[in-house]
Amino acid sequence: MKKIENAKIVGKKVIVRCDFNVPMKDNVIQDDTRIVESIKTLKYVISRAKKVIILSHMGRIKKLEDLKENSLLPVCKRLSELLNQNITFCKYDEDINEILSKNDVIMLENTRYFDIDGNKESNNDINLAKYFASFGDIFINDAFGVCHRSAASNCGICEFLPSYMGFLMEKELTNLDLVRNNPKKPFSIILGGSKVSDKIGVISNLIDKADKLIIVGAMAFTFLKAKGLEVGKSLVDIDNIEYAKNLLANYSDKIILPNDIYTAKEFNNKSIKELKKVEDIKKDDIGLDIGPDTIKIINENIQYSKTIFLNGPAGAFEFSNFSYGTKELFRIISQVNANTIIGGGDSAYAAVKFGYKDSFSHISTGGGASLEYLEGKDLPALKYVCE
Ligand code: 3PG
Repeated sequence: MKKIENAKIVGKKVIVRCDFNVPMKDNVIQDDTRIVESIKTLKYVISRAKKVIILSHMGRIKKLEDLKENSLLPVCKRLSELLNQNITFCKYDEDINEILSKNDVIMLENTRYFDIDGNKESNNDINLAKYFASFGDIFINDAFGVCHRSAASNCGICEFLPSYMGFLMEKELTNLDLVRNNPKKPFSIILGGSKVSDKIGVISNLIDKADKLIIVGAMAFTFLKAKGLEVGKSLVDIDNIEYAKNLLANYSDKIILPNDIYTAKEFNNKSIKELKKVEDIKKDDIGLDIGPDTIKIINENIQYSKTIFLNGPAGAFEFSNFSYGTKELFRIISQVNANTIIGGGDSAYAAVKFGYKDSFSHISTGGGASLEYLEGKDLPALKYVCE
């Protein structure tokens, strides 16, 4: 690992790449975890470097209208508050070198603004990478959440500058390695969310190391259907029923599926909820959450685990009536004396929302990146900071 402590940053111009792709609504930040998690690296750099240049992407830029909705300005303001430090925000039509000569800490506008011009950031355009690199002497990559993308601001830039990883990146890799390489056993994997296809890579890479694979969330209905059960109007990943059948046939001793479900007739929070055994699901039912019996069985199975990895919510937690399973899962996992690692994306968001921010060994800030890392893939941005 090329650790930040080994970077000679004192008196230098240091570029720090963060992943500030935070959920926004009407230009208001909905969850600032990724910003909070970057503070340790930024404080370290600001207190040593001569100049600090902060880079990040935000959202996806396909057309001109996307620019306004995806400005990093609200992030810049929030970060200034958290650091108690003036950060000068720079647009690309300004003289950035001039601004940098007069200010110590600057943040450039969303790096993906260059995607409007032939996808230059997302296609790792080498001239754009050179342009970003021109502002600094050293590059620190702390943007774990976007390591699975090969972009000018996290890959190409490393061709021009000595590159190191920040503290958040190091924390992510150290904790995810507890799952990816030789997890302490017994090892339990709990997967939820809607699409089986998103999780196939992780299942394939980890199932032989795991003692239990517990399937919850909408994903479970694909498996219940594969077992021949009626699942009504619940979400099913039709293309992966065969996959689920094979997995059930080969790993019947490891796989645990829900045995009771909260159902409703409509996909909303007002619909009357009914608790049913999975065998009793009717044609017009939609399964929206797991029930107490399922929680009891999961609890019994994970009690002695030494490693637990959870990715994906157990139910439609965005509806308060169907958040029981997601919350209860957090509660029971947090009580086990194990390395408890929560994958990013929806599960991380739910863990923070339900007050479990500090209850696990690690909550990843990477959604797609943490899944791809646990699939065993080589993430493009890591090769520059891991040798
Ligand atoms: C994320 O939120 O997963 C990262 O910031 C990457 O974003 P992307 O999926 O738009 O590349």
